Amino acid sequence: MESDDILSSISGGRVLDVATGGGNFIHTLMDELKDYTEIIGVDNSKNAAAAFSETFRKQKNIHFQLMDAHHLDFGDETFDTVCISNSLHHLDPEPVLREMKRVLRPGGLLVVSEMYRDNQTDTQMTHVLLHHWWAAVDTVNDIVHRETYTREELMQMIAKLELSDVTSVDLFDLSDDPKSPDFLEQLDSVFESYIQRAEGHPELQARGEELKTRVKEIGFHSATTLVAMGRK
Ligand SMILES: C[S@@+](CC[C@H](N)C(=O)[O-])C[C@H]1O[C@@H](n2cnc3c(N)ncnc32)[C@H](O)[C@@H]1O
Repeated sequence: MESDDILSSISGGRVLDVATGGGNFIHTLMDELKDYTEIIGVDNSKNAAAAFSETFRKQKNIHFQLMDAHHLDFGDETFDTVCISNSLHHLDPEPVLREMKRVLRPGGLLVVSEMYRDNQTDTQMTHVLLHHWWAAVDTVNDIVHRETYTREELMQMIAKLELSDVTSVDLFDLSDDPKSPDFLEQLDSVFESYIQRAEGHPELQARGEELKTRVKEIGFHSATTLVAMGRK
């Protein structure tokens, strides 16, 4: 299933994308929401700010604000739609989700999109294991990055928000060649950079080498993403 199947009937209104990075998920929102009036992306990284501003410089109704997701600098009930994508495992998820609900108007839509680690095929497990290795390398470099959650853990976090009309879909695409030479070549440079960043941690460097072999032997598909949403 494509995410447009679930977003295409939704008028986003005033939209907030939390931990937006360079705004990847905003492209999805722009393409797939029925319409929207304004999108604000927030992130606490200055690099994200620069990438975002460059990408959306021509869009007058898409803005960035530098901000910690745990303390959103917006009034209560000021957004129609509030989203977070692939970032809960970079944050303290429950306080962030509560902040997201606080700034959402009654009846507004909260959207969580996050890859998870269980119930994956072998080729998708390559992504999960790679992700866990990236998280471990980031952690030794003092960057907050956890392993991804299980689907059930994510659904429990969402249940605690006591939203109404909660729906969820699992998005995956296993149609690409899992051993695509172009993709494997791209991954090589990612391996090099993470093996370098793991300097001084031979066990992490060895894990990277094992994963390089796994990618070649088993192949790679992106892990399934849970998209869950509900109304305040
Ligand atoms: C994996 S990226 C996801 C970016 C984007 N949402 C996407 O789907 O591609 C995680 C983002 O979380 C941001 N982040 C981490 N901690 C944060 C915090 N405390 N407040 C705001 N953003 C944070 C990082 O700077 C990074 O841009």
